[in-house]
Amino acid sequence: MDGLGFATGDAVVVTGAGSGIGRATAVMAARSGLDVGVWDLDAGAAEAVAGEVGELGRTGVACTVDVGDTAAVDAAMAATTASLGPVRYLVNNAGPPSTAPLGFDDAVRVCVGSVRAVTEAWLASGAAPDAAVVNVASIAGNLIATDSDWYTTAKAAIAGYTRYLAVKRADRVRANAVAPGFVDTPRMRASGFADSEVGRAMIERIPLRRVAAPEDIAGAILFLLSPLGGYTNGVVLPLDGGGTLAQ
Ligand SMILES: NC(=O)c1ccc[n+]([C@@H]2O[C@H](COP(=O)([O-])OP(=O)(O)OC[C@H]3O[C@@H](n4cnc5c(N)ncnc54)[C@H](O)[C@@H]3O)[C@@H](O)[C@H]2O)c1
Repeated sequence: MDGLGFATGDAVVVTGAGSGIGRATAVMAARSGLDVGVWDLDAGAAEAVAGEVGELGRTGVACTVDVGDTAAVDAAMAATTASLGPVRYLVNNAGPPSTAPLGFDDAVRVCVGSVRAVTEAWLASGAAPDAAVVNVASIAGNLIATDSDWYTTAKAAIAGYTRYLAVKRADRVRANAVAPGFVDTPRMRASGFADSEVGRAMIERIPLRRVAAPEDIAGAILFLLSPLGGYTNGVVLPLDGGGTLAQ
């Protein structure tokens, strides 16, 4: 058992685990004694992170899956549980960037429908007792609005689905969400936002005077999943360095 109370050898599935917040969560989970289902669209990235999990002495199972494809999600859950046994923990992190050229209906289906599809497949797979899920929302849609109509809408809907799980499915699962602000991930770096005028002004307003590292988000996710966070249910935790309060 580690400091968070995880039983060594319990398993977690992390979606979008090939990069950024998902990768940091998978690696931190392995350090906390968990075996990890490393799910990602990108096969090479999933294999690489599963390798990192292995180097930490835990089992990493790479799964190439588009979480927007329900049949693929069901197959991935079957393959993961065949390798790892019942999976006690789930992190729904995968999702397209807000700049993706997607139509509203498709984007909401992929962003929110996927969170529901993965969660239902996981619960149907016999998620172990004391199961817990953390969904990755955003301050977008929950505390602020952004330029993308579908991103803002989808992230708010993920918070709503989290509250539904926390109250109506509490017999099966404890559910929480994180709402990151600005996180220094490959996606964010590629956007060049930190160097833009708007980005620089935003960072200046963050009381902690920096953007989040992926590990800042992973640490909160691990706490919310863990037995130490066992009475935390239904929260949407802002992780923005206090930036939203200071606007
Ligand atoms: N970076 C930020 O500032 C920030 C802020 C708030 C919320 N978020 C949320 O955090 C999550 C992770 O973002 P990130 O910045 O770490 O991104 P990232 O691009 O670094 O990593 C995302 C990973 O998810 C995978 N992925 C994307 N769509 C997928 C799909 N349909 N099926 C399976 N895998 C898929 C990608 O291949 C990639 O490896 C997203 O849900 C994002 O909306 C990010």
